[in-house]
Amino acid sequence: MNVSESTVVLGIETSCDETAAALVMGGHDVLSSVVSTQVDLHAQYGGVVPEIASRAHLDLLNPVVARAIVEAGVEPERIDAVACTIGPGLVGALLVGVSAAKALALTWHVPFVGVNHMEAHLYAAFLEDRSLEMPLVVLLVSGGHTMLIEMRGHGSYRLLGQTIDDAAGEAFDKVARFLGLGYPGGPAIDQEATRGDPTAIAFPRAMLNDGLDFSFSGLKTSVVNYVRKNPDVSAADVAASFQAAVVDVLVTKARRAAVAVGARGLVLGGGVAANSLLRERFVAAGEADSIPVFIPSRAMCTDNAAMIAAVGWHRLGSDGPTPLDVGALPNLRLAFDD
Ligand code: KG4
Ligand code: ZN
Repeated sequence: MNVSESTVVLGIETSCDETAAALVMGGHDVLSSVVSTQVDLHAQYGGVVPEIASRAHLDLLNPVVARAIVEAGVEPERIDAVACTIGPGLVGALLVGVSAAKALALTWHVPFVGVNHMEAHLYAAFLEDRSLEMPLVVLLVSGGHTMLIEMRGHGSYRLLGQTIDDAAGEAFDKVARFLGLGYPGGPAIDQEATRGDPTAIAFPRAMLNDGLDFSFSGLKTSVVNYVRKNPDVSAADVAASFQAAVVDVLVTKARRAAVAVGARGLVLGGGVAANSLLRERFVAAGEADSIPVFIPSRAMCTDNAAMIAAVGWHRLGSDGPTPLDVGALPNLRLAFDD
């Protein structure tokens, strides 16, 4: 289907604990981006409770979509397509967005586009910097994934490396919970680490000199063992040392991947890309290696619907509308070229 610079896509995102809607024109011009986080609802349980997430999406989605339309300052008739995350994510949470997106597409007589949430994280960077040149190496670090991806063109990806156990965000969340820093763990550790010494404890950097895959479960175990043996250690020093270990490995491997594929740019994506130290070290690595580095704003790193609308625009152009019999796909993977 033809898409143009004036094609307006409504994006909807409900895969986890953020209810989000956004209007994006031409695949890159963000007219509005509304994110309603459910963090407070889940915090008392120390993590996302799927049933609570689904119910909250039901309550929040209509007002969030309405606000996105009002903030964009356009009439609903101006919307040319509705794009929505179909996976991966929590099945009940995904279903709320997918059902609403299909209903809106049918009501407005416009195409529905199903979007892969991980592909959307890859596209967050393009919303803020259109000058990025391929091939790019993207370090995608979220609560469920840690991947190094070569982006050769729009929709064309090669998997360079990934975690063999825990995702980086998962490690942040588990360590934060163990240290009693609360939920969500990533921002809590980021904050606590500002008061600590990153060289206080030499936590392991697993597989540092070994290829492009990652492993974080041993690091988590090391933190637990260290704190049990040294109960008086300062939580700030543990947080700072843990964060330094994760970031060291992420940055070292991203640099190695960029060299291996002759990348013309290095990009960060996913919720963990909001981490202060990772952002700082990524910029320094780009300068040291003379490679352009792009780091999306924090709002575009964590879950949002503008990135969903951006992929929706590209996919509508390349693949056309998604049939309405597609359902929520909780285990959806990113399709790689080889
Ligand atoms: O991409 P995202 O919002 O949701 C998923 O698709 O998973 O990522 C959420 C993850 C969580 O594990 C959260 O703790 C982590 O991103 N995160 C951070 C920071 N902000 C969010 N990790 C480290 N430092 C942060 N500042
Ligand atoms: Zn995400």
